[in-house]
Amino acid sequence: MKPVFVLNGPNLNLLGLREPAVYGTATLKDVERRCRDHAATLGLDVDFRQSNHEGELVTWIHAAREQASGIAINAGAYTHTSVALHDALKAADLPAVEVHLSNVHKREAFRHHSFLAPAVTGVICGFGVESYVLALTALHSILSANKKG
Ligand code: DQA
Repeated sequence: MKPVFVLNGPNLNLLGLREPAVYGTATLKDVERRCRDHAATLGLDVDFRQSNHEGELVTWIHAAREQASGIAINAGAYTHTSVALHDALKAADLPAVEVHLSNVHKREAFRHHSFLAPAVTGVICGFGVESYVLALTALHSILSANKKG
């Protein structure tokens, strides 16, 4: 099976250093390791990437159309601003999960709206690093059901 793309947006390279009270002390490398370990138990391959640039994330979602079986995306602040990522996810036409470490609904009002949510299969937020694990489990369920169907 093609890999699942796990895409990370702006400022997530600073995970572990950045606002640890909100985002925890795990680094992005730790998140990647947790994703790879969990994906291995599910029999999934993971292609894990991070960019601070909206256009690069758009390009990776376009690549996913051909190269990936599904997408887990933590778009960081672009979640709340980016019509381009919404359109790219629609165009990718793949099972996709929007992921957040924090519970964005408990936070500032500007984080309550997501441009991505209407373009993805589902949204998981508020479970820290486990949000990524839950997203991979969800993608695995969808992909297994699609294979059977
Ligand atoms: C985030 C939540 C966003 O609102 C914020 O801009 C981030 C991280 C999260 O994982 O909780 O950069 O996506």
